[in-house]
Amino acid sequence: MTYNLLKIVHILSVLIWISGMFRLLDFYQHKKERESQREAVLEFDSTWTSPAMLSAWCAGIAMAYLARWWIHSWFLWKALLVVALSGLHGLLIGTLNREDGSANQQVKVWWLIPLLLGIVGLVVIKP
Ligand code: HEM
Repeated sequence: MTYNLLKIVHILSVLIWISGMFRLLDFYQHKKERESQREAVLEFDSTWTSPAMLSAWCAGIAMAYLARWWIHSWFLWKALLVVALSGLHGLLIGTLNREDGSANQQVKVWWLIPLLLGIVGLVVIKP
């Protein structure tokens, strides 16, 4: 029961987190047209995306602890990719906060897609 509740919290948090990441992707891809939305994007991130990322981490770690998932290699690979995804989020938000050449991050923002494919693939297939 506790485990399933954690999974519900985890999946909802991941949904909000990733929707925020796609908002960042959209911002970076249409930077010139979206420049006026910079503050709104940052506010959305601190209200929704970052708290959701934190709660996805907490629920994920709690599930891993309860089910001892860390002894399985799929979980360790997933953890590695999730650390990379969290790092990508930090990089994109950090650049936006500093208001410097976010154009340089336009390529990096596309790392979102393979990271998501890897994470969801690992958690479903559990190779
Ligand atoms: C933030 C760090 C994360 C940790 C520590 C973590 C850990 C976990 C654990 C332990 C499970 C339970 C696996 C099971 O019961 O089968 C799980 C489920 C899941 N995770 Fe994560 N996860 C994290 C981030 C993510 C991210 C970023 C995504 C998507 C992009 C994601 C997608 C999922 C999905 C879809 C499930 C449900 C799988 C199923 O029920 O078959 N997780 N996660």
